Amino acid sequence: MVDFDLAALYLTDMFIVKKILELQNLLRQKTSIGFVPTMGALHEGHISLIEKSKSENETTVCSIFINPTQFNNLTDLEKYPVTIDADIEKLIAAKTDVLFLPSVEEMYPHGMENIPIYDIGYLDTVLDGKFRPGHFNGVSLIVHKLLNAVKPHKLYLGEKDFQQCLVIKRMIALQNLQVEVITCPTLRETDGLAKSSRNTRLSIEARAKAPLIYNCLLSFKDSFNTTTFHQLQQNWIQKLTQNGFEPEYIILANADNLDILTEFDESKKMVVLIATFLDGVRLIDNYRIN
Ligand code: PAF
Repeated sequence: MVDFDLAALYLTDMFIVKKILELQNLLRQKTSIGFVPTMGALHEGHISLIEKSKSENETTVCSIFINPTQFNNLTDLEKYPVTIDADIEKLIAAKTDVLFLPSVEEMYPHGMENIPIYDIGYLDTVLDGKFRPGHFNGVSLIVHKLLNAVKPHKLYLGEKDFQQCLVIKRMIALQNLQVEVITCPTLRETDGLAKSSRNTRLSIEARAKAPLIYNCLLSFKDSFNTTTFHQLQQNWIQKLTQNGFEPEYIILANADNLDILTEFDESKKMVVLIATFLDGVRLIDNYRIN
């Protein structure tokens, strides 16, 4: 068990820092900083972002902070997996330079009431914006706070959270922040399931069914010349429901701006996005189909 009482620890080659001031002292002389924000329960998807950052920057900072303001559902927050010791081992093995591990008090010194509202606009009205009210405001707020703390040159995000990437880019533009956003491809298990911290919450039976999400997404890529989106969407809602899933949405959208498309349109960059509950766990995934 790691002793977190000190503000900054030096473990093998990785600093663990809990305070913003300590972090800023540590990073002051650095000329290129890459930043990977996470909520922990790290998997190969996160590590691929660390590796990408390491290949492009002098210093790589990872944060682990389970952000209460982005959970619109208290049970979801309470059940979010916490695996800090294993996470630290993975970060050390990946040669991460700094782990920023703040407390709730450090990130929200004035509490979580009356938090600022970000003008996310259209992106907050569709898909996860619609189904998880307040979620993207909480994401915008914490990423803004983390960027102010770390002051990175490059920010690394996973494309599995497709809408989140667009929301964070909007927040960065709104706040006029000087940081380059690098989006990295989704990593998948061998059966196609997108790697996610939430997968650990699936029962053995549910885990065996979960790759159906990927099969669903692939079928849109394979069949978009031969059938309508609406027909495929209805078939998959039925198939997933019969297999114990509770789909929230299967949506076709313009990959540049998430404008909803009612039918396939090859003149646009298209992405299919899905959110579904399985075994009480909310899973999301997406696939670019052209
Ligand atoms: O994708 C996540 O893990 C979180 O939404 C993020 C970006 C770390 C903000 O809390």
